[in-house]
Amino acid sequence: MTLKYFKSEELLKRARKVTPLGAQTYSKSFRYFCEGISPSFIEKGEGCRVWDVDGNEFIDFICALGPVTVGYNNKQINEAIINQLNKGISFSQSTKVEVELAEKLNQIIPCAEMVRFVKNGSDATTSAIRLARAYTGRDIVALSGYHGMHDWSIGSTANNRGVPKPICDLTKTFNYNDITSLKKLFDEYKDKIAAVILEPIQGNGPEEGYLQAIREITSKNGAVLIFDEVVSGFRYALGGAAELYNVVPDMVAMGKGMGNGMPISVVAGKREIMELIEEGVFVSTTFGGETLSIVAALETIKILEKPNVYEGIWKLGNKMLNGLNNIISDKKVSDVVFTSGLAPHAGVQFEGKGSLDYLDINSIFQQRMIQEGIMSIGINNLNLSHSEKEIELYLNAAELALDDIQRAIEKDSTAGILKGGKVNPVFKRNIK
Ligand SMILES: Cc1ncc(COP(=O)(O)O)c(C=O)c1O
Repeated sequence: MTLKYFKSEELLKRARKVTPLGAQTYSKSFRYFCEGISPSFIEKGEGCRVWDVDGNEFIDFICALGPVTVGYNNKQINEAIINQLNKGISFSQSTKVEVELAEKLNQIIPCAEMVRFVKNGSDATTSAIRLARAYTGRDIVALSGYHGMHDWSIGSTANNRGVPKPICDLTKTFNYNDITSLKKLFDEYKDKIAAVILEPIQGNGPEEGYLQAIREITSKNGAVLIFDEVVSGFRYALGGAAELYNVVPDMVAMGKGMGNGMPISVVAGKREIMELIEEGVFVSTTFGGETLSIVAALETIKILEKPNVYEGIWKLGNKMLNGLNNIISDKKVSDVVFTSGLAPHAGVQFEGKGSLDYLDINSIFQQRMIQEGIMSIGINNLNLSHSEKEIELYLNAAELALDDIQRAIEKDSTAGILKGGKVNPVFKRNIK
């Protein structure tokens, strides 16, 4: 299928003159997609489908990088937003809906005794870190995973330009599923680590006992344990990984999946830590109590907490994973394409081979998926509007994509196969 992108291309030209990369988020920019083959601008969505500005239709497995948990343009959530809109958006004092959402989240999130709303994942993780530093009187943070754009977090990555070195030096990384690497940090920085923050579900999830071991080592060393559940919250289970694995951290940051796309996130935790906000540990933002996002979150939670919702998402995700594993094995490409992730947030990742690097293989995959009407960047986010039918369409497209990959490997070249631009991820792996 050859899709036309006249309006997308025109808009991209305009956007690039006025916005870096023509987008507000790295992962949504043209560089992240197969240029010339993918659209760059979306007009509308419905359920799990989106339409670009040229009217091309796609089944969306990206779901706005995670926030769309129920589905685009959901009537029930829209109604809640519209009802609130008719009363007003932001006010000069607090509102009843804030209290209702705070009460609800205190029930849902395993470690939550108090919560505070912020606007995005970075606000939530940064708030947790500041509170942990104030609570412990220590400065060093041990982290594993991505925790947002603020200095303390991005300073630990290769994209740390603009972050002062003393800030970078306060953040130490450890390897996921490797308790020894965390123990080493506690040995090296004895009584200096304020917080251990990690994405509790990375790749194929925690090995048995890993999260419990982190819980023990942090308690023993007086460090605050923070689960960054910005991705995992509301996605694998309503209460995130803490609920799923029955390990209760001291604090949690949640965001993406909370309001079906509305900008809201939450920092939550033990009362004695959260109460430091009352003493002036600064967690405060003008739009923290913005009501449209709050009512959207209340309504999203109402939908997500219905019986069997998460069972359904896990079932669909496992159907996708099993289907992908079968195709990968049939096509004999398991050395370059492999499945990764747990069912609600899973898909394929890539390795290089011969003259092809992992991004060549990734680009060929993405190109064919888009040509078959599937918007996917490898690891997928399922929402409640996806059904078995969309999974089958995804798998049919993936089969064709693996054929293309097979041909490229045989030729040891992307020539004649990759027609679009090569994708550029935000954080590049080292290419050997
Ligand atoms: C695990 C995790 N934490 C924090 C963040 C930062 O969230 P935001 O981009 O909303 O600031 C992200 C964003 O992708 C994330 O994946």
